[in-house]
Amino acid sequence: MDKIVISGGKRLQGSVPISGFKNAALPILVATVLTGDVCVIENVPSISDVEITLQILRAMGASVRMTGKNTVEINTKNVRQGQTPPELIGKIRGSTYFIGAELGRFGRAHVGWPGGCDIGNRPIDQHVKAFEALGAVVTTDSGFIDAEAANGLRGSSVYFDSTSVGATANLILAAVLADGMTVVDNAAREPHIVDLANFLNTCGANITGAGTDVIKIKGVPALHGCSYSIIPDMIEAGTFMIAAAATGGRVRIDGVIPKHMESLSAKLEEMGARIEEVDESILVSADRRLDKTTVKTLPYPGFPTDLQPQIATLLCLCDGVSHVTETIFENRFKYVDELQKMGASVRVVNGKTAIIEGVPQLSAAALRAMDLRGGAALIIAALAADGVSSITNIGSIERGYDNICGKLAALGADIKKVTEPDEATVAV
Ligand code: EPU
Repeated sequence: MDKIVISGGKRLQGSVPISGFKNAALPILVATVLTGDVCVIENVPSISDVEITLQILRAMGASVRMTGKNTVEINTKNVRQGQTPPELIGKIRGSTYFIGAELGRFGRAHVGWPGGCDIGNRPIDQHVKAFEALGAVVTTDSGFIDAEAANGLRGSSVYFDSTSVGATANLILAAVLADGMTVVDNAAREPHIVDLANFLNTCGANITGAGTDVIKIKGVPALHGCSYSIIPDMIEAGTFMIAAAATGGRVRIDGVIPKHMESLSAKLEEMGARIEEVDESILVSADRRLDKTTVKTLPYPGFPTDLQPQIATLLCLCDGVSHVTETIFENRFKYVDELQKMGASVRVVNGKTAIIEGVPQLSAAALRAMDLRGGAALIIAALAADGVSSITNIGSIERGYDNICGKLAALGADIKKVTEPDEATVAV
């Protein structure tokens, strides 16, 4: 059993390089299926969700070769439809993208149910609506998601009932090779949607409007391979910014797009932290205890749900009473029980709003990461706490953070990953 052990109380200092964005890498890696050609993808983060995605591509018949630590060459010429292993599909949420990619390339898809962090219901009704609008018949009652466009996919107009990153990306994947124009209204505006569109356009697609709520996709007959570099991970960057603030540190976050960080930068400044932006770096410093605030998660460019647990943890150590409202996922406060073990004063009302009264100090505890971002929040809490904390179930953190222990140690944290034999394997 692996765990992370942290001796808290060290100020983070120095600079940290940001890896490629998980939530852009996953759809882009899957989108290579649409090219039937060789793509070279750079700045791919070393995380388990990416590893699983590459395993699924291999199982479909793609040739996948790491040509550098963060560069992968993928040839999807010989990919076959209906070959995605359900046990791998069921491990990650990004696997929904295989439906759009199979449908786009072959006119039919047969993919198991996706998995991912248990942070809410996570229905796929908007994905299904999108595929049906393009002319596919979709069934979801066999333990698999089956989609078939017997007469080919045709461009269409789709209005999403709610803003969904996954459904927007999936519609783009299905529509790039469809016959005619697709217009997506109420599309997600997240930077990873823009990155997916940029990648596909580099492969010869005709997508305009990504980054706004109306995206137009004019179908093209074929795509070709390309070289493409993934954008930096705004959620990893935000996690380090918050960790710097929570430890009273001074950290330069390198290789970011400051525009993507605006909702967090503005919030940290409002709380009393200093934020300086220089080209592709953000310097965060907090030389005093920060102030309470109000946070409400929203689709981009609002405050990201993927930074909600981390900012709430910082607010446990700020002056005054803060309110944090989660509007995207209905089950994203599971980390609160763990923070309470450390002496945090947090009450969740109606499952939606955390009321947080700042305490002078958190104390170390034995903790369990319940999901990816909740796990990152516990790391921040342990870095700031008095004493030695341990965090188990770290696989959920490693799905989305590239070398988090190494990067924090380089900033002066006393953190290590420890492997202990499982009880069952200890000789008696
Ligand atoms: N929704 C529906 N119907 C759908 C799809 C979504 O009702 O068909 C709802 C969801 O239940 C949720 C809201 O719409 O309430 C937003 O969900 P969205 O589809 O945008 O989320 P996702 O595509 O499942 C991605 C990221 C998440 C991130 C969300 C929101 C990936 C692989 N996952 O999930 O990332 O929280 O967008 O930005 O890209 C994470 O990285 O920790 C993570 C959970």
